[in-house]
Amino acid sequence: MKLTDAQKAKVEDLLSRMTLEEKIGQMNLESPSIVGGFDVPFEELIEMMTDGRISKDEFENIMSSATRDFHEDDIRAGRVGSMMIDDPKKNNELQKIALEESRLEIPLIIGFDVIHGFRSVYPIAIAEAGAFDRDLFEKTAHMAAVEARAHGINWTFAPMIDIARDSRWGRVSEGPGEDPYLASCFARAKIRGLQNDTESPENYVAACLKHYVAYGACESGRDYNTTSMSVSQLHNVYLPTFKAAVEEGAATAMASFNDLNGVPCTVNPYTLRTVLKDLYGLPGFVVSDANGIKECVTHGIAEDDADAGRQAVNAGLDMDMGTHIYKDHLTELVESGKVTMDVIDDAVRRILSTKMWLGLFDNPYVTEETMKQYEGANLPEGHAELTLEAAEKSIVLLKNENQILPLKRSQKINVVGALAENAKEVCGAWSMNWNEENCVSILDGLKKEVEDVTYYPCCGPEGEMNEEELAKAASDCDVVVAVVGELVSMSGEASSKANIELPGMQKEMLKKLIASGKPVVTVLMNGRPLALGWEAENLPVIVESWHLGIKMGTAVAAVLLGDISPSGKLASSFPSVSGQCPIYYNHPKTGRPGSKSKFTSRYLDAPFEALYPFGYGLSYTTFTYDNLKVREAEEELTVTVDVRNAGAVAGTETVQLYMQDVTASLVRPVKELKDFTKLDLDVGETKTATLTLKKKDMGFYDNDGKYLLEDGLFRIYVGGNSRDCLCEEAGVTF
Ligand code: NOJ
Repeated sequence: MKLTDAQKAKVEDLLSRMTLEEKIGQMNLESPSIVGGFDVPFEELIEMMTDGRISKDEFENIMSSATRDFHEDDIRAGRVGSMMIDDPKKNNELQKIALEESRLEIPLIIGFDVIHGFRSVYPIAIAEAGAFDRDLFEKTAHMAAVEARAHGINWTFAPMIDIARDSRWGRVSEGPGEDPYLASCFARAKIRGLQNDTESPENYVAACLKHYVAYGACESGRDYNTTSMSVSQLHNVYLPTFKAAVEEGAATAMASFNDLNGVPCTVNPYTLRTVLKDLYGLPGFVVSDANGIKECVTHGIAEDDADAGRQAVNAGLDMDMGTHIYKDHLTELVESGKVTMDVIDDAVRRILSTKMWLGLFDNPYVTEETMKQYEGANLPEGHAELTLEAAEKSIVLLKNENQILPLKRSQKINVVGALAENAKEVCGAWSMNWNEENCVSILDGLKKEVEDVTYYPCCGPEGEMNEEELAKAASDCDVVVAVVGELVSMSGEASSKANIELPGMQKEMLKKLIASGKPVVTVLMNGRPLALGWEAENLPVIVESWHLGIKMGTAVAAVLLGDISPSGKLASSFPSVSGQCPIYYNHPKTGRPGSKSKFTSRYLDAPFEALYPFGYGLSYTTFTYDNLKVREAEEELTVTVDVRNAGAVAGTETVQLYMQDVTASLVRPVKELKDFTKLDLDVGETKTATLTLKKKDMGFYDNDGKYLLEDGLFRIYVGGNSRDCLCEEAGVTF
């Protein structure tokens, strides 16, 4: 977020001319209030729609029938610095008021949840991360930036880069999984895609890193719950994504709802000021999550709203989302000396600098021509294709017994499961601006390619099973494609679950289908790793297809029919049963590693290992690994391995490099991902993958937050997933 000297001078000039009220105005984020009949703030209404409490149609009805207050008078008076809306025309109108009618003519920064695409919705983060494709992560983020900016949005509440290891937490869907290295690559790429193309204001937005920090560690996977961890774990696992994103230039961040070791992240001076701003050097500002400041009273850490506001601003929280606590209390807090003008100025300088960097003083409006590109179901050239590419690369083949897949176009296919035909269910949590005409259901995707497809809904994630339909579905066909999983509303915010097995009657339906003797292909649509112990044992084929965005049906059909060989991997381990959560491959070494023997770290009634581990995913071909070599140079280890396509079709393999620090001054993980690369291999072809392990990345943080590089023995693992690897040992000095 580089500013020219002239831009810096303009920020200082504005700051010197602002009244306290105008400064506080910059620290206030507003969203349109719904007036009359429906007494809920806009952001809550959006959440209600995204978490399924109301449907998209109900949301639109409420929005069109209710009167909305866009706070024009407050904008005119300089009491609003930021708005949360997605309508380009309205955004133009409000910007015009800010720029032409407010005393200092400061534009609004317009923020919105553009999480995995805006109009061109691409896969949810946990799915996309499994593509292990840095270029793809960047390209999709850039597409989202362009679409956001075309709607007047210049600040997106993304990327969500919370490490999550407990799939009971509904928000695992929104983040890049359990591993700090993969998630950091994802974070860096997202920042590049959102922010780096600054040539034209139409091409970039300010990113907002969230949820800062350790929100994914909420106890027992229950949303908004407490988190507690050592300094070492915080720095080794939960902070690296944020550090990487700030290094890449991320402009802003959002404080998370949770408390961390007793201090809510909204008012946490250690995480906000000491680490994020002073140590990492976040250039822009920090916003609260919706209602976050007020919730500090409920947390019992603040006496009242004013006290919560005092703690938040002093801790380094620059902008208030969802409450009017800054607006209502900061003047009095400054006048009574509880908050200094320096603290206010620092916050306002950060906000103004971000607006300056975004070019909002010069290019605040969306043109008619830009708006036209999105008329009706229109999408700019190349966007639909990119969402399709992302969807295809994110599909993970978990099991393919007897090579039932790929299917043939000549087969007679019966499709079952209510999720199969629902085009509204393809986009996943936090997507709201898609046009239904652009969404392809799995049923439509298959029907477009195969002549003989018959559909029987039978049952969905909720409700009863239609036995009559099921009987028909299991007869008179060559193969049954069963689409099962979770509704979009079952993952995302406020959607934690104690039981993460397939919900409703779906398992019963699968049992009956299997009993019929027909080959059954199970396609999963879901936002979290599910507990699939029974399915893995009893079903011949399992395809994990997540929520893949608008082109989901086309991508799933391409994989099922073998037009492409699946190449996605898991960014998160899958358990056999819910009680195994949290489960992740890179856990610290115990003194009694789980094994068949009783007195080891295991359950009596469940496996000690993941059912499908991190990095896992099959293809229609097989890859063999050979000739692992590790060469040490001064600053890095170069690791090479030969990978051969030993099957009958071409395929793409993600080659993964892990390390284990054998002996260290703190207990270290059994394995840690350190690099990966993708290889396209023709039938019979062998390629040498070259991976790099930088010595500076082989250390860890201790409990004083100090980074240590300790000489000694390391195990270097390379393979196609985190479990099945070749291994070499290397003594390393730093
Ligand atoms: C609450 C969510 O936690 C956050 O992810 C989102 O960006 C804000 N609300 C704004 O909608």
